[in-house]
Order: sequence, then C-alpha cells, then structure tokens
Amino acid sequence: MHILMSKPSVGKAELSMIAEVFKSGWLGEGHITELFEKQLEKLTGAPHVIAVNTGTSALHLALYSLGISSGDEVILPSMTFVSDPMAVIMCGARPVFCDIDPETLNIDPRKIKPLLTSRTRAIMPTDFAGVPVDIPAIRRVIGKRDIKIIRDASHSFGSLIQGRHIGVWLGEDATCFSFDPIKNLTCGEGGAILVQDEKLAANLRCQKMLGMKRTTWQSLSKKTVEDRRVVQQGFRYHMSNINAAIGLAQLRQFKRFAARRRKLAKLYDQLLSKNSQVKIFKRDYDTIIPFMYIIRVKPEHRDDLIAYLAQNSIHAGLRYYPCHLQKFFGHQGRRLPVTEQLAREMLSIPLFPGLTEKQVRFVVSKIQAFFD
Ligand SMILES: Cc1ncc(COP(=O)(O)O)c(C=O)c1O
Repeated sequence: MHILMSKPSVGKAELSMIAEVFKSGWLGEGHITELFEKQLEKLTGAPHVIAVNTGTSALHLALYSLGISSGDEVILPSMTFVSDPMAVIMCGARPVFCDIDPETLNIDPRKIKPLLTSRTRAIMPTDFAGVPVDIPAIRRVIGKRDIKIIRDASHSFGSLIQGRHIGVWLGEDATCFSFDPIKNLTCGEGGAILVQDEKLAANLRCQKMLGMKRTTWQSLSKKTVEDRRVVQQGFRYHMSNINAAIGLAQLRQFKRFAARRRKLAKLYDQLLSKNSQVKIFKRDYDTIIPFMYIIRVKPEHRDDLIAYLAQNSIHAGLRYYPCHLQKFFGHQGRRLPVTEQLAREMLSIPLFPGLTEKQVRFVVSKIQAFFD
C-alpha cells in the first residue's frame, strides 16, 4: 500500500449527511447548499459566501464578476496550481507571473511593482501551503490604483491571521476556497467565493447559475413564481446539495482535522531537523493549518529522492511545476530566479489527517536512508 501525499478523511459522518439529502429528494443546489454557505459565513465572518462547484470556478467567477476581461493583465505567482493562470485566461486576460519569497513561498510584494502596467487590473496571490499572503503589503504597492485583489485561499482554509479565520476582511475584493478531495476541508469537489459587497454577491449568485434571474430553488424556497429569464452571461458553477452535505459533515470535524495536520507537521519538523541534508520551512503551526508539508534538498538530490521514496511506496513530488515555464502559459522571457531555484529543490511529502505517526516516522526514516 502506498503512503499517498494526500488523502481525504471521509467516512460515516459524510455518508449519513448524503443519505439525508437523498431522503429529501432534492439533490441539486438547495437547502443544504444554503446551510453550508451560512456556516462558512459564520466561521469566516464574511458577509457573503457563494458556494460553487470547484475552486477553479471560484477563481474564474471572482475575476469575471470583478470585471476582468480581454486585454487586462493579472499578476499572480508562478509557484501555484495551474487553475490560477487558467482562470485568468478563461476571462480573456493575460497572466503576468511574479516571483516568490523564499521563506513564505508566497508572492513577493516587493517584486510586484515592476510588473504593474496600465493594463494591470488584478492581483491574485495564493496562500501557499496554508501560509496567509501579506495582503496589506500588496495594497501598499498598489496605492490608489483601481486594482482588485483576489486571494486564492485554496490551501489556507482554517488558517488564522491575528487570531481570526482567513476571510475577506483584510482588503481583499474576493477570497476563494477550494474544497476538492485533498483540501483541508472537502466537499468531494467544491469551492466558495467570499465577498463584502452586497451587489457583487448578488451578481455572483446570478452568474453561477447561468445568469438566470431566479433559480428553481430560489423560487421554491421563497414561495414565489419561477423566473428563469437570462439577465446576463452566466456559468454552470453552482454547488449541489450532495457536495454541500459532505462539506457540512466535514465542518463538524474540522477542529480534529486541523489539530491532526498541525501535530503531524510538528512531528516532521522535530524529526527532520536532525537531518542536515534537508531544509525545513519554519512555520507557526498555532496559527496556520498546513495543507502540504514541503521540504528543500540540494537540486542534485531532489529527483533521485522522489524516485527512491516511490520505490519505497511513498508518494512525494514537486508542488508545483512553475506556471511561467509551462509552454501553454507562454514563457514571457523573464526569469523568476527564486521560483526557479526552489522548483529544483522542493518536494512535498505525505501529510493528511489520516496519516499515522508511525507512517511519518517511516517517511523520515526513508529520507534518512536515502542520504545515508
Ligand atoms: C492553489 C490552488 N488554487 C486553485 C485550485 C483549484 O481548486 P479546484 O481543484 O477545486 O478546482 C487548487 C487545487 O488544487 C489549488 O491548489
């Protein structure tokens, strides 16, 4: 049996919530989706949470709703999942890749300024591996210019800033979560957009359901007549009751999942700090919830180490291959030295709530054996 890099923690609690949805006879977007949104609002303090079907949809819809379109430029880190630049391209805009800070692995606010042009309309930073990006620092770089900030919080659900849950309270125009199978919280597949602005929220609700004035569920729940006229362009991005049911069951267990991730990451820290060939990243696990556990080794060892771990049934790998080096996103001729150096040294090793301490020790022992 492989020790996977990541694995969802789902079981009886999720199954029994899904059974409730089956009994209700309403599988699509509905009362459970609404309940899930309300619980996320309570947890994050966001005035409006709009649940959608994936994190990628959340990013795309946030950009679209904030008016990003053809000819615009969006600045984002290259060290992120391909969903981010793809969402920009889906709007007809151009991704402009920025270098990262070697310690946080987040976009480096100091490197944003030279990338600003008259076409820059948005900045979309990722909270890499759960570490919140410094939004106020990005705001300071932007100054008075009308540039939107969309926080990709796909990795940081549950992490805290100044004791408060990641949300949309630090100057972000929108914050997006992913609830895909391996995230800190899963819906099977899912995502959410958090916004402050009521009008923006109303637009997002309309656009996620094909731009229809009122959905069947909205009409039924408000005991009003259906109005399915299309009033603007929209997408089929809503979240079903089934996926929301999984999310609700996960929320009830979330404290346990978070504690488990933190405990295992601390154990890795403790064991790996004895290995001089491995560099670990210093993290405050009292505030962040680690989504991934990333280590650094010398570039000449990295790929051999991944292969050695695979031979020992341990799933490890690079997260992520830099987007600016991907042909599809168009190599812009600019070098991103920190991103490129880290992409030669980084690897992600197994971390998920169901991982046992024994497995963590086994992974560390195999890393040690490789260097011995
Ligand atoms: C940083 C980041 N952004 C966006 C996404 C997209 O989320 P989803 O898989 O739910 O579409 C992911 C998913 O892995 C991610 O890691």
